[in-house]
Amino acid sequence: MASAIKPRQLMHQFLTRLRLTAIQNKYYSVTATPSTPAQAAPHVPVLCDTAIEYLQPQPGGKYIDMTFGAGGHARRLLDNCPEATIYALDRDPVAHQLAQRMSQEQNYKGRLVPLLGKFSELPQLLQTLNVPPRSFDGVLFDFGCSSMQFDEAARGFSIAHNGPLDMRMDCGRGGVSAADVLARIEEPDLARILRVYGEEKAAKKIARAIIEARSALHRIETTHQLADLVASVLGEGQRLDKLQRPSHVATKTFQALRIFVNNELNEINYGMLLARELLLRVQGRLVAITFHSLEDTIVKRHLNGNVIEGMANPVPLKYCGHDFTHDPELLESFVQSNWRQLHRHVILPDASEIARNSRSRSAKLRAAVKIK
Ligand SMILES: C[S@@+](CC[C@H](N)C(=O)[O-])C[C@H]1O[C@@H](n2cnc3c(N)ncnc32)[C@H](O)[C@@H]1O
Repeated sequence: MASAIKPRQLMHQFLTRLRLTAIQNKYYSVTATPSTPAQAAPHVPVLCDTAIEYLQPQPGGKYIDMTFGAGGHARRLLDNCPEATIYALDRDPVAHQLAQRMSQEQNYKGRLVPLLGKFSELPQLLQTLNVPPRSFDGVLFDFGCSSMQFDEAARGFSIAHNGPLDMRMDCGRGGVSAADVLARIEEPDLARILRVYGEEKAAKKIARAIIEARSALHRIETTHQLADLVASVLGEGQRLDKLQRPSHVATKTFQALRIFVNNELNEINYGMLLARELLLRVQGRLVAITFHSLEDTIVKRHLNGNVIEGMANPVPLKYCGHDFTHDPELLESFVQSNWRQLHRHVILPDASEIARNSRSRSAKLRAAVKIK
């Protein structure tokens, strides 16, 4: 009910987002040591046919895959539409190498343009290539990490495979490793990251244990050290996740750190703005695949037009009435969107896809056309 959320709560949510951004900025001004590049492992693309159906690639069309990974979606698009061109962005140098290799394959020569960088670096990259603004017919996002990143111990994302606690998608291109974050962060900041990005109820307890272990151990260097520490604090090995599947108790801690280290939510927010403002022509199509509710909420709020000063509003539209603001222009902007969604309900993988590829189980796909 609209009256259930009070202005004080709204303010609290805004401030939490702002504080996290401030913590993030503190860490992003530091340069870091490069990590070992991962060995390519197979990544099975999620909701691949559905994504391409919604993009409706046309002969002569120009598309951008914002998250190339191992190129499963890009390959399917090019195979479905032989005269289309695709720009392939990824912030991971390993994925970029795969894109470069694919661009040399006979079938794709001259039709795949590899780009190395983050969403936030894309405007500069496109300017260098003289790509005109709003000239793409379709944009595809498949957020999160690839299997190549998750499964390679040396990348430091994995609870199962021990490795250095790194978690940078960019490898040595910049940013700060998760181990460096844990070595320097203050306890309240860490607790906030675990609570907001990991949705971890025991955030304070885990943050306290990490800071205490830091004084005893000096540094938490490996993924197993962190996973064991969290398990010992919580006194359990496994929990049931939202879908009632058993998962390691440190899963939420790892998710929170990964999101923080890669500035993921701000990147997604920026990527959605770019799609609307810089990339798509009017009538161009957007497809976004997300893997947890923090990602999906940002996409959904953008598609609903629920964006304030360039940021997805942390509050759903149904709560944005006169309680929230008396500014008629701001209120009007809440009900206007540049997008028309192409489906009624969010699209999920079917049981057979989940059985074939367990990573697809939490995926959600949203597709929209830019109408203005
Ligand atoms: C789930 S994988 C994509 C898999 C791909 N669709 C495929 O079929 O192989 C996500 C990829 O997006 C990349 N990525 C995530 N955030 C990014 C960002 N902000 N800018 C550029 N690439 C990003 C990751 O490095 C990773 O390779």
